[in-house]
Amino acid sequence: MKYIVGIESTAHTFGVGILDLDGNILANVRDSYTTDEGGMIPLDVRTHHARVSDEVFTKALKEAGVHEKDLEVVAFSNAPGLAPCLLEGMAFAKKLAKRLNVDLVEVNHCVAHLVIGESIGAKDPVMLYASGANTQIVAYEGGRFRIFGETLDLGVGNFIDTVARFMGLGFPGGPKIQELAEKYKGDLLDLPYSVKGMDVSFSGMQTKIRNLISKGENKERIAFALQETVFAMLVEVTERALAHTGKNELLIAGGVGCNSRLQEMCQKMCEDRGVKFFCPDRSLLVDNAAMIGYLGLKMFQSGMGTKDYDRVDIAPRERTDEVEVSW
Ligand code: ATP
Ligand code: FE2
Repeated sequence: MKYIVGIESTAHTFGVGILDLDGNILANVRDSYTTDEGGMIPLDVRTHHARVSDEVFTKALKEAGVHEKDLEVVAFSNAPGLAPCLLEGMAFAKKLAKRLNVDLVEVNHCVAHLVIGESIGAKDPVMLYASGANTQIVAYEGGRFRIFGETLDLGVGNFIDTVARFMGLGFPGGPKIQELAEKYKGDLLDLPYSVKGMDVSFSGMQTKIRNLISKGENKERIAFALQETVFAMLVEVTERALAHTGKNELLIAGGVGCNSRLQEMCQKMCEDRGVKFFCPDRSLLVDNAAMIGYLGLKMFQSGMGTKDYDRVDIAPRERTDEVEVSW
């Protein structure tokens, strides 16, 4: 039996995933950079990845019960992301592929977040991709993942993380804001609701929240209003994309998709419209390497692997809709 290994390193997480060649996930190990207060510093993250990579790899092999010599392909996320982090992952992937003399596959991290939805049965969904750096409403059309709407400024996860940092809560902020919001029982604080056509924007809300925090406003009240307002904006544009495309499935993707209030609001909208709702497990929503292996396998099987290692490179700014879907 042969296997594929996926490697993820685009931002805060270093991960190794191992799948068999039918796409079954055998291991999905990750180690993420976190802080108690303050945000994420790219060079510190790179140091983190370099420190944990061997250990994460060994753990994944062990969990999968796979020997290194049985790896037939190495897939890694070469785009998009923080250059120092991408370089660390690529160095690890190249070294491994050379040692094993196997094909290397370059995988776009954002597209991997979307394609993993197939593993839970989504066939042709509208996708709400809500993560740290990205906020996009996507649907597959004519060989590409088309972006129907997106953020005009910050990614929703980065926005929430920034608010958490203002509150002194550390990184990642999403789960901490959710916790605060769940404790709040009261009225809905008014925050700027900013939907422009199919796009959303968060900078106005960020300024307002920063002022509220400096005036001593209750943090739970802010967290609650943030979730209600931001998620209503996302659900509104997602619903419009469903109406426009006529598709009857919704897939949630990316780390912010872990938020139970966002899931609940999507679920409700889908019920009202008679649309089937797909939400992957948390381990496949946040940054992870199983999704890199999953898409890498499809690409490898359609001939997109290479042993010309020197031509393989990172592409820190490659967008979701620049990837040609030829698998
Ligand atoms: P991208 O995929 O755009 O490159 P990323 O790789 O940083 O971004 P993910 O790992 O997919 O993103 O998501 C991380 C984000 O998810 C962080 O901003 C984090 O705060 C957020 N997040 C995680 N759990 C929750 C939650 N329960 N509620 C809200 N946000 C959450
Ligand atoms: Fe991600």
